[in-house]
Amino acid sequence: MRNSAFFVDCHSHVIPSGDDGAKSLRQGIELCREAAKRGTAILFATPHVWPHLPLTAEREVAVRRAYDEMQPHAGLELRLGFELTPTSRLLREDISRYELEGTGCVLVEVPFTGGINVLLRMGEHIEASGLRPVIAHPERTETVLDDPAIAEELSARGWLLQVNATSVLGLHGPGPEELAWRFLETRQASLVASDGHRTTRPPYLDAAYDRVRERLGERAPGFFDGSALGLSRQQTPSRAALTGV
Ligand SMILES: [Fe+2]
Repeated sequence: MRNSAFFVDCHSHVIPSGDDGAKSLRQGIELCREAAKRGTAILFATPHVWPHLPLTAEREVAVRRAYDEMQPHAGLELRLGFELTPTSRLLREDISRYELEGTGCVLVEVPFTGGINVLLRMGEHIEASGLRPVIAHPERTETVLDDPAIAEELSARGWLLQVNATSVLGLHGPGPEELAWRFLETRQASLVASDGHRTTRPPYLDAAYDRVRERLGERAPGFFDGSALGLSRQQTPSRAALTGV
C-alpha cells in the first residue's frame, strides 16, 4: 500500500454502463478500493460512448445512478466523465455533457484504424465549446503506430496526450511500449492513465509509476498527479509518496 495516494487516473471503465468495463456495482467498487490502496486519489470513470452505444438519456440516468451508488463506497474520489469515439454524430452535440468532471477537458480516443479526420474535427468541436481534448492512448492505434508524427501534430495543437499504463509496462507489445516511452520522453504526452476495465485489466497505476520514476526520475509525478488537468493544487503528494519510501 502507498503511504499517500496522489495519482489522478483520468481514464477507466469502473462504472457498469453497458460497455466492456465493470459488469456490476460490486465489481466496480472492488476495483476502486484496490486502486485506492495502490495510490489513486481521484479516479475518473469514463464509460465508452461508441457509435453503436451512444449516451442516450436513459443510459445517462443509469450511469449517473450507478455513480451515485458507488461513490460512497469507492475509497477514493470517484469522478464521472466519458470516453468518446469520434463520430460525425457527436459533432452535432453539446459536447460539454461529456466533460471529465471539474477539469474543462473531454476524453477522446484515437480510432484504432483509419484516418484522423473525424478526430481532428472532434477536437476542434471540443475547443469551440471552450474545452480541451485529452487524446486517449494514441500509442495503441494502428494509425499512430504507422505514422507517429500524428501524435506530434495533436500535441502541437495544445491537446493533451494520454498514454496507457499498460503500454508503459509493455503489455500491448513492443510497438505501443516503444511509442508510449517516446511520447513521455519527448513530452508529447502529458498523462499516464490506466484505461482499466476489469480484474484482468485493472485500473491501477502503481507499477507504471514505479517504472516511469526509474526511467524519468523527478519528472514522473507530473504524468500521474493530475497537474496536466489543472488538479495539482488539490493533490499535493507527500515526499514519501513521490519517492515511494
Ligand atoms: Fe478506455
